Amino acid sequence: MNKHPKIQHLNDLKAQSQLGGGQDRIDAQHKKGRLTARERLDLLLDKGSFHEVDAFVVHRTQDFGLHEQKIMSDSVVTGWGTIEGRLVYVYSQDFTVFGGSLGEVHAEKICKIMDMAMKNGAPIIGLNDSGGARIQEGVVALAGYADIFLRNTMASGVIPQISAIMGPCAGGAVYSPALTDLIFMTRGTSYMFVTGPDVVKTVTHEEVTQEELGGASVHSEKSGVCHVAADSEADTLYLIRKVLGFLPQNNMEDAPFVASDDPLRMEEALNAIVPDDANKPYDIKEVISMIFDNGNFFEIHENYAMNVVVGFARLGGHSVGIVANQPSVLAGVLDIDASEKAARFVRFCDSFNIPIITFEDVPGFLPGTFQEHHGIIRSGAKLLYAYCEATVPKLTVITRKAYGGAYCVMSSKHIRSDVNLAWPTAEIAVMGPDGAVSIIFRKELEKAADPIKRKAELVAEYKEKFANPYVAAQRGFIDDVIEPKETRPRLINALEMLSNKRDSNPAKKHGNIPL
Ligand code: HXC
Repeated sequence: MNKHPKIQHLNDLKAQSQLGGGQDRIDAQHKKGRLTARERLDLLLDKGSFHEVDAFVVHRTQDFGLHEQKIMSDSVVTGWGTIEGRLVYVYSQDFTVFGGSLGEVHAEKICKIMDMAMKNGAPIIGLNDSGGARIQEGVVALAGYADIFLRNTMASGVIPQISAIMGPCAGGAVYSPALTDLIFMTRGTSYMFVTGPDVVKTVTHEEVTQEELGGASVHSEKSGVCHVAADSEADTLYLIRKVLGFLPQNNMEDAPFVASDDPLRMEEALNAIVPDDANKPYDIKEVISMIFDNGNFFEIHENYAMNVVVGFARLGGHSVGIVANQPSVLAGVLDIDASEKAARFVRFCDSFNIPIITFEDVPGFLPGTFQEHHGIIRSGAKLLYAYCEATVPKLTVITRKAYGGAYCVMSSKHIRSDVNLAWPTAEIAVMGPDGAVSIIFRKELEKAADPIKRKAELVAEYKEKFANPYVAAQRGFIDDVIEPKETRPRLINALEMLSNKRDSNPAKKHGNIPL
């Protein structure tokens, strides 16, 4: 049966809007090992759930011959769909149309979808693949970016905002992803930088490739700009689907509950995991995998500042954020990068009602001129501030060292942690036995006939007195000392006990976190 001409016209227009910049450019995109904007949305969203808006939108630019190239949908595909049945708003930049560049209507489309996400309380996911500001549109393009930055900032802490970098993301364009909660990158095919290799060469005479300057490895290992790096576009999109399962739709809701394995499960192996020698490392990720539901852990910043481990898991079915010192990297010391990594994660969890579980084995802050000169004071204060300010349920387990300022910082009782447990291997003191004895017995050691022997005696004495959890437990700074194997049931019980927790901070415009 022939269709009504108007219906046919509509169908033709819809079909045309799906073509982007045409087959040649789609082929070129595939040749670079990249998917198109729409193929990405197909992988990201539940099958058949995508509803596109603004497919009829075309740009209004007259200059540089652009009036002869009006492409429906312009260079970004926007709409909503579902992930595991939950509503999300999405935009996906289309590199086949003007290199995915952002002009007036491209920005308007993104702003519209962000406003809808805010009004309806659902996450927004941006898939970035763009040559940046549309050069032909000049300041109008810059204005479009600024409109998006404002919305990113207003949405921060209200709805989860997730960015994936799937191709180029250069110049000021980097600042929209940078304002969001999580940045995912694809190895080998994506890059982010404020100024590209050509400008770098002109200004500093440094020769560097795009990959070396801002590839996924650089940002997931050195700068920390990227939270999760994946090996392929399909993996990147799959991981975004996965992380959303740990997050609520917005700051007024809780993350989804997922039935867990045995909440009373004991792990005998935990009783032997901390070596007798306090200087020997062990892997805190093994501890994590034994305690949390089904051994699942979604790590954030896996290869950045690895001396602290952060990520999402479930405990008795509830989504939780984990912050853990990692004794097998730099002895788990807190340095600038680790402090900032953990601080940002704590604030992310707190804004979205996700309880924080802290595992502590930390010899202190990293000493040295580099750390002092680059502001370990300011960075350590960020972590302290983040923990102090957080009002979600906070549980702490001290597995071994809790020394000095790091004891206070790592979710101690004094900064509003709700339940603080220690393993019998815990050592809670102002500093490690060696350093402490060298300072307080300096004169006695100078005079000793056999200083080495005397020091060993004094260290043993100090350990007996302070390097244990019981002095803190006598004061009530530790609620209980437990067998390590009991950790899972004890944490689940504490979390359930805290399920109606109410806490708040004094009314204020906002605090002044030491940025
Ligand atoms: C308009 C653009 C464009 C742009 C690319 N294109 N970038 N059109 N404005 N910014 C077009 C190209 O003309 C080309 O059109 C098509 O997109 C594909 O680009 P190619 O160069 O052929 O692709 P490729 O070789 O893969 O190189 C990709 C690229 C390069 C590295 C991104 O295009 C590039 O360097 N673009 C400019 C990047 C840039 O400097 N942007 C401004 C950054 S400053 P045809 O018709 O030939 O297919 C900025 C400020 C934001 O963004 C400030 C916010 C506050």
